[in-house]
Amino acid sequence: MNLIFLGPPGAGKGTISAIAKDVFSIPHISTGDLFRANIKNETELGKKVKEILASGNLVPDEITIEMVRLRLGEEDAEKGYILDGFPRTIAQADALASMSKVDYVVNFCLDRDTILKRLSGRRVCKSTGRTYHILYNPPKVEGIDDETGEELIQRDDDKPEAILNRLDVYEKSTAPLIDYYKNKGLIVDIDASLSPEDIVENLKKVLR
Ligand code: AP5
Repeated sequence: MNLIFLGPPGAGKGTISAIAKDVFSIPHISTGDLFRANIKNETELGKKVKEILASGNLVPDEITIEMVRLRLGEEDAEKGYILDGFPRTIAQADALASMSKVDYVVNFCLDRDTILKRLSGRRVCKSTGRTYHILYNPPKVEGIDDETGEELIQRDDDKPEAILNRLDVYEKSTAPLIDYYKNKGLIVDIDASLSPEDIVENLKKVLR
C-alpha cells in the first residue's frame, strides 16, 4: 500500500507514521527526517538545506524530488510506503505521479490552536529523532530520551517565528494539494485531535 500523510506541521504525521509503519508493514519515509539526517551528517545536501529548514521555508522542488526518487528506489519501498511530508507542492505531486501509484492520501485535520500547542511543546532526541511532548507525551525523566539517555532538544523550526512561517507556507503551497488529490478521489480525512491509538484504529478502518 502506498500512502501519503498530508497535513499541517505538528498535526502528528510523524507520530502516527511511527505506529502505522508496523501496523501496515511498510517503511516510513519522512522528507523532514531525511533532510535532518543530512544536516546532522554534514553532507553537501545537509549544508545546502540547513538554513532553509531552520527558517521553515521549503527546500527547492528539484532537490526534494531527486531525494525522494532515490529513496523510493530502495528495496524496502517495493512493498509500499508511508510518505510523510512529501509532496508539499503541486510540482512535487506531479513528479510523484510519474514515479509511483498512490493508493490513499490521508489528510490530517487539526485546528490551529492545537497545532501551536503541539509544536511549541515538542522535544526530540537529536540522534534518533524520537519525538516527545512536554505535556502530551513526556519522557520518563524530564529533558532526557527514554532509550539513549541523551538530552532532548527543541527543533530550530519549533521556535515561535519559524512555526508561524511554516503555517503560512503550508497554507500557501501545501493546502492546495487537498483539492488536487480530492479531484483524483484519493483523499481520506482523519481527525488528528484524537489520541494516537484512536487515530491508528480509525486509519485501519478506512484504509482496509
Ligand atoms: P517536516 O519534518 O516534515 O515538518 P512538518 O511537516 O512541519 O511536520 P512536523 O514534523 O513538524 O509535524 P508532524 O505532523 O510530524 O507532527 P509530530 O508527529 O512531530 O519538515 C521539516 C522541514 O523540512 C520543512 O519545514 C521544510 O523546510 C523541509 N521539507 C520537508 N519536506 C519537504 C518537502 N516535501 N518539500 C520541501 N521542503 C521540505 O507531532 C508534533 C507534536 O505533537 C509532538 O510533540 C507529538 O508528541 C505531539 N503529538 C502528535 N500526535 C499527537 C496526538 N494525537 N495527541 C497529542 N499529542 C500529539
